[in-house]
Amino acid sequence: MGKDIKEILCRAVAENVLAKNEVVALLTCTQEEGTLLFDAADQVRKAVMGDAVHLRGLIEFSNHCEQNCAYCGLRNSHQKLARYRMSADDIFAIASAAVPLGYRTVVLQSGEDSYYGAHMLAEIVHRLKNELGLAVTLSVGERTYEEYRLWKEAGADRYLLKHETADPDLYASLHPDMIWANRRRCLYELRELGYQVGSGCMVGLPGQTVETLAEDLLFLRELDVEMAGIGPFIPNPNTPLAKAEGGTVGMTLRMMAIARLLMPQAHLPATTALGSIDSRGRQRALRAGGNVVMPNITPNSFRRMYEIYPNKICLDDNPAHCRNCIGGIIGSLGRTVAEGAGHSPKVGFDHLAG
Ligand code: SAM
Ligand code: SF4
Ligand code: FES
Repeated sequence: MGKDIKEILCRAVAENVLAKNEVVALLTCTQEEGTLLFDAADQVRKAVMGDAVHLRGLIEFSNHCEQNCAYCGLRNSHQKLARYRMSADDIFAIASAAVPLGYRTVVLQSGEDSYYGAHMLAEIVHRLKNELGLAVTLSVGERTYEEYRLWKEAGADRYLLKHETADPDLYASLHPDMIWANRRRCLYELRELGYQVGSGCMVGLPGQTVETLAEDLLFLRELDVEMAGIGPFIPNPNTPLAKAEGGTVGMTLRMMAIARLLMPQAHLPATTALGSIDSRGRQRALRAGGNVVMPNITPNSFRRMYEIYPNKICLDDNPAHCRNCIGGIIGSLGRTVAEGAGHSPKVGFDHLAG
């Protein structure tokens, strides 16, 4: 057993700091040492965030996208994909049905779709907040400062914009019309506007190295995110990365566990992507630092069309079924489903209940 790894872990648990070479050491340690990493992350999660698991109901409200990210099935060039858009009333109805299932937060996610103008989305957010009392997370990509400001004023609590990779060259090669500096600017603007900021990366992108993965974690810590979504890249046959290898469960879990050590108070979802490449992926993630799950509450008729990657779980399951299933998973781990909205416990947001 490497003495170094034990020392690195002890210090990380005590001080929540790691140098880049230490992150790399944890990402490349032996399987036995990896178990120590997962245990350390689980302990920190329990001590800081408790046993409650927060549920966020995910509404995939449009699969139209003006971008062309090389990895994603919703990319504009994927012309065979049947596209849909939900109306404001559709979204409201889906969110209303999630309330009796116990959801206190909904995540409104879509491709980059300018059909939903700033005011239209602001009105939707306003209704969900004021008529249903839900916490609202938006995840609609890169927009202007003014749009982000309008939505914050309308009541949006959180914004999820994964940085995907903190390697500017890799970022440029994967995103034909987007640049890393702009991604970063959006994230800092969201921070400035007072959102609870969620970011994150994929694991296993072609060209990614353990060094660039370490940079991803250090970037999340620098940004001091309230939520870090870390999931495996899953190759989609309808994209230029069809033949790429894809991320592994083991490396994704290590990234999550290190994220927990570096950011003890961040919410860390056990991602659907991890559950899609390993039938026990979400359980494993909840034991490696995870404390959030984002069950899909999109109606079945739309789920198949939001095909970011193949073999996504829950395509034929309805929101009530998924809610029961996830409750069972959480209970089987000796954990509970959180009752509140699950706002960040960090200073600055701790006045918000739950
Ligand atoms: N359009 C918005 C954006 O890009 O921020 C939100 C929707 S996008 C589909 C949500 C996330 O899906 C992205 O942040 C990306 O990390 C993830 N994603 C896309 N393609 C993926 C793939 N092939 N494997 C795993 N995750 C993928
Ligand atoms: Fe569009 Fe988001 Fe997919 Fe990129 S990741 S193609 S912005 S939906
Ligand atoms: Fe959808 Fe298990 S979470 S069926």
